Amino acid sequence: MASDDGQLRRVYEIDDPAEIRDYYDEWAAGYDAELIANGYASPQRVAEALASLVSDRSAPVLDYGCGTGLSGAALVAAGFEVVDGADPAAEMLSSARSKEVYRNLVQLDLDASAPPFDEAGYAAVAAVGLIGPGAGPLSLFDQLMTLVAPNGLFGFSFNDHAMEDPAYPAKIAEHVSGGRAEIAFEEWGPHLPGLDVSATVFVLRRSV
Ligand SMILES: C[S@@+](CC[C@H](N)C(=O)[O-])C[C@H]1O[C@@H](n2cnc3c(N)ncnc32)[C@H](O)[C@@H]1O
Repeated sequence: MASDDGQLRRVYEIDDPAEIRDYYDEWAAGYDAELIANGYASPQRVAEALASLVSDRSAPVLDYGCGTGLSGAALVAAGFEVVDGADPAAEMLSSARSKEVYRNLVQLDLDASAPPFDEAGYAAVAAVGLIGPGAGPLSLFDQLMTLVAPNGLFGFSFNDHAMEDPAYPAKIAEHVSGGRAEIAFEEWGPHLPGLDVSATVFVLRRSV
């Protein structure tokens, strides 16, 4: 479980992908309690933004970087009926499995060149708290966009730490200006109010 100042603050300082996975594995048992104690709001915010934009909530959604399943639980609470999850950290996945909100759960291999899912295979993909300092690399953004079906949605949160780095908003702009997606939803709001960290929730709609 977390030390006095918790594991949340320290995770933002790690940037090696395998070290990040191992850090989450060690954190898994205490993750939910620490996040909930800090008012973790992004799962619900991303899930509700996606739900407000889809017409068919029975279409499968992929919760990429699902962790312990807080984001999958929020997607189900928002009305999504079929949610798949994926994460590289086995202990996080074990906690996710126990929540019984996922249809399928996949352990990701960080050495793989691409995610183990069909291109354009999901009507919606969620990446909550996934891309940013202390979590997944920005290169995941392009990979996840390929998993979204034409006209489908990619919902994600970029926390304040990510938004302070011009590379993160520039990645969104690259997809929009390249005609590959449009911004269907954008809202700044709470992420971890207990740590005074906010996040911008985006939903991109992939072009046909
Ligand atoms: C802050 S947690 C968010 C988990 C969950 N989405 C939530 O909202 O609670 C970040 C998750 O990303 C996973 N992760 C880290 N690097 C990753 C990568 N390269 N690809 C996919 N997932 C990764 C971690 O194992 C961890 O479970």
